[in-house]
Amino acid sequence: MKHTDIVEIFKNPEYIGKTTTVCGWVRTSRDSKNMAFLELNDGTTLKHLQIVIDKSKMSDITEFMRLGTSLKVTGEIVKSVVAKDSVELNAEEIILLGACPGDYPLQKKRHTLEYLRTIPALRVRTNTFNAVLRVRSIVSAAIHEYFQSHHYVYIHTPIITASDCEGAGEMFRVTTVGFNKDIKTEEEYDAADFFRRRAALSVSGQLEGEVAAMALGKIYTFGPSFRAEKSNTQRHVAEFWHVEPEVAFAELPDIIEMAEDMIKYVINAVLDRCPDEMQFFDKHFENGLIEKLKNVASHDFAVMTYTEAIEILKKNADRFQTPVEWGDDLMTEHERFISEEICKKPVFLTNYPKEIKSFYMKQNPDGKTVAATDLLVPGVGEIIGCSEREADLDKLLEAMNIRGMKLSEYGDYISLRKYGSVPHSGFGLGLERIIMYVTGIQNIRDVILYPRTVGTIS
Ligand code: 4AD
Repeated sequence: MKHTDIVEIFKNPEYIGKTTTVCGWVRTSRDSKNMAFLELNDGTTLKHLQIVIDKSKMSDITEFMRLGTSLKVTGEIVKSVVAKDSVELNAEEIILLGACPGDYPLQKKRHTLEYLRTIPALRVRTNTFNAVLRVRSIVSAAIHEYFQSHHYVYIHTPIITASDCEGAGEMFRVTTVGFNKDIKTEEEYDAADFFRRRAALSVSGQLEGEVAAMALGKIYTFGPSFRAEKSNTQRHVAEFWHVEPEVAFAELPDIIEMAEDMIKYVINAVLDRCPDEMQFFDKHFENGLIEKLKNVASHDFAVMTYTEAIEILKKNADRFQTPVEWGDDLMTEHERFISEEICKKPVFLTNYPKEIKSFYMKQNPDGKTVAATDLLVPGVGEIIGCSEREADLDKLLEAMNIRGMKLSEYGDYISLRKYGSVPHSGFGLGLERIIMYVTGIQNIRDVILYPRTVGTIS
């Protein structure tokens, strides 16, 4: 269907005076005695194109005026009469592509995000989702650009796996075996299954990413991860997009430096390429968002040890619902206090107690902590989980044995420590979490097309 993207018409003054065809959905409509006006959006920009209709030239325009209707419109692009520096289209021909009945659910100018979650197929047609999904696309492109331009190889790690990377047991099983009363034990069940052993959806591509990094030096993965965590919070989904670089010959300070550089690159890309969307989020979701992000992109992030953070948290114990002691995992309220009230900017919290972190993290010489860091950002909390990996075979085996892990399931991973082991580090960035941070949207369900959360799949 020959037509012009509306974004091109706004960007390019050469369209003024030219007869042009556009397609889109009616977002607003207004009727007066001789003239009618409707705003068309085709999804290529947040801006709507005003269509001006001289009623004397068209017989019946009733159907065109209904919100949600899809149209193909041809006419001359002219300078807007009302809005300075804008353009509109004087309709000469309108073709109805798809009529829309009066019960179209998006009738109001602004609906609550909660209501929009109940109509996932239509909420994408709102300004909010138009802006979120475009920012998401730009963030994804910027992530690829950053790694590609720094000699990283993009690796596709398996989605079906037999090993649990995070060791938390929060995995979705992959099975072809249904209910069968003849199967009496778990072993029989696993043996009857497709792979002849237990399989699950991957929680992280890290373990396979490490394999690739031990040959290619610098790699990254960017794909879905799955967690069957029952945390029904504003920042957890069961299926999220996970960016996981893995870098050989890198210690913890090296990977921290890269993570900061990458986040700043992504922020600058969004500010540069999504000016309308960012104005929209600044106005409707977080006042001062653009200024905040510019500031973040031009200053150093903070770095603080877990132990220092615990001291600060204990001094402010009256501020929290859950008291905290050295050795405890931090709750969201603690993480947010440190980044929002103490550092007032993104902070890398480093050197966590080894008991609360994963088996693969490098053990520090103090015997108590591991060389791990979480990047905490104001408003969201943790967006990156990162560590230097344990490169010493004996120490890795000891950490796995303490956790009662089945070494036979991790043969490849362990072998990396036998054959030319090197210091190496990596991290996982949750795509939805960084989208929340750069848009100011507070619920992860509103930055993903179809959120999967405990008890809900639509
Ligand atoms: O801290 P996590 O669990 O780290 C790992 O999975 C490591 N294997 C990553 C690595 O080193 N390669 O997860 C990393 C990030 C979190 O910081 C968070 O941004 C995101 O993944 N994440 C989730 N995002 C949304 N919903 C969930 N349920 C998430 N779980 C983790």
